[in-house]
Formats: sequence, structure tokens, C-alpha cells
Amino acid sequence: MPTANFGVFQREDEAMAYLATLLPPYVIKTDGLAAGKGVLVTDDFDEACRDVKEKLGGVSFGDAGTTVVIEEGLEGEECSLTVLFDGEHAYALAPAQDFKRVGDANAGPNTGGMGAYAPMEIMTPGLIDEVMSSIIAPTVGELHKRDIAYRGVLYAGVMLTSRGPKLLEYNVRFGDPETEVIAPLYGARLFSLLRGVAEGSLDESSLGSYQCAVTVVLASHGYPVSARRGDVIEGLGPDGQLASAIEGVTVFHAGTALDDEGRFVTAGGRVLAITGVANTMGEARDRAYAGASLVTFEGRVMRHDIALAVS
Ligand code: GLY
Repeated sequence: MPTANFGVFQREDEAMAYLATLLPPYVIKTDGLAAGKGVLVTDDFDEACRDVKEKLGGVSFGDAGTTVVIEEGLEGEECSLTVLFDGEHAYALAPAQDFKRVGDANAGPNTGGMGAYAPMEIMTPGLIDEVMSSIIAPTVGELHKRDIAYRGVLYAGVMLTSRGPKLLEYNVRFGDPETEVIAPLYGARLFSLLRGVAEGSLDESSLGSYQCAVTVVLASHGYPVSARRGDVIEGLGPDGQLASAIEGVTVFHAGTALDDEGRFVTAGGRVLAITGVANTMGEARDRAYAGASLVTFEGRVMRHDIALAVS
């Protein structure tokens, strides 16, 4: 499969020697679960060295971080392609783009995702076909070869480079916050699709067409370094949706809880995702941000430029 050039290391001296052969940007990945925060992308050689040392030394993620993957940085737009697979047939859902950095204009540290939009127009049908044949088809072939009866999601994180799409990562789950834009685009059809996945009868005709969707994540004070709990969330009704409904807007809960008085409070890093759906990306974005402006809590962290460049 097309990927960046990379090496896998457990020994610091070998990792450092490989790092010294690369040009920036440097990508240092933790080979273990790190809550979406195990990747450093930096132009600073010293920072890259420090990160490798901390990961291999168990400082950053304990045992989960003691193998690192060092990659050449790839330039381009990143696309999340969620593919449904029923054991035989694989079909792509709307291509989405996730905004991983915490601040506007991609400033600050990586997060689990601060917002997303779909469909991603530059991921043309031709490029989707290329990903299906160069990345998804070999994956499916390998699953068959190994006699693995997998049915579910193949979620490929792909960089659209000048040398074609390159695989950055694979997940066997839906993306977050990509799902908060994908699910509303398919609505009830998603259930037939997932049933098809489960029963081995996925039907391309159930995919149909879709509108545009934008989601904006509201995170808690201190995110992504820490996550303050217990801040009272204003603007939601008892059903957890907007107290003053806006057409085409859905509120997804991630890190919320009810306090003793029955009020919604923050209870995690990413607290809520507010999705707007409409016929155009601009309108979907306006709806998402109109919804987000109605939901407030102390220390709320959000980006203001989700889908701005494509609206
Ligand atoms: N949005 C990135 C992920 O779900 O892994």
C-alpha cells in the first residue's frame, strides 16, 4: 500500500540515527493506544528527538509508547475515508476532513478532532476509486488470505499528496468527529447499510446521495492537556438538543453528565459536537456555528474555522 517512508524502533540510538536521515516535517507515532494524542508532527529536529526519548523511555504513554514509528512528513490535504465492508463488498461513505489541531489555522497541539466536514470535494470519485484499489482492495485481499472474517468499518486516514493518495493510518471503527458529519448525511439509511454489513448483504444502492454537513466540537477548559469537569452547560433542553431548535442542527454528546440538580455538565475533553446539515457547505457551516453559539459553558474551547476554506 502507498504510505510514507517509515521505520519502527524500540532502541533510542537506532531511532535517532534514522531521524537524522529525514527532512522535516518529522512524524513520531506511538505504537500503542494514546487516546488520539500519540502523534507528534514537527519541523523542529530537537523537539522530535526529545519526543522519541520520552516515548521510548515510557514518560509519555507508559508501556503503550515504548515502540515508536518514525515517518517522513507528507504534505497535502488529509482525508478520512470511511469504508463499509461486509466480508465481500466494500463501499466508501462520504469522504470527510477532520481538524486535528486545537486552535484556529491549525495552531496548538493535536487533539482527538475539533470539527469535521463532509463531503470533501477535492476527494473526487476518481481519487476515491484510487484509494479503493490501492489501499482498500489489498487490505481486503489480506484479510481473506489470513482467513479473517471481518465485517465492519475500514477507516483509512489518507494524505492526498502530489504523488497520489498515501495511507497514514487505519482504524477498524468509525471516526470521531467524522461520524458526527457522516451519520446525519445518511440518516436512517445508515441502519440498512449497517445491517447489510452485519448480514453480508451490503447493497451499493442503499448509499444514495447526500447533502453537506459540518460539525464543531466544544471541548472543556484545558483541553487537550487536561479536561475540567463539572462546568454547567447552558443552552440545552432536557432532551440534550438545543433548547431553541435550529433547522438541520443536531447536538451529539461525548463528555457530558447530569449533576445532582439534573443539569448537563462537562465530563470529558470533547464535550459536545454540534452538526449542521444543509444543501451547501456554507449553509451547513452557518447552521453548525449558529448552534454552537447557543451552547455555552465556562472555559469552552472551540475552533472558528471548521470548513471555512471550503464554504
Ligand atoms: N478523528 C480521528 C479519529 O477518529 O481517529
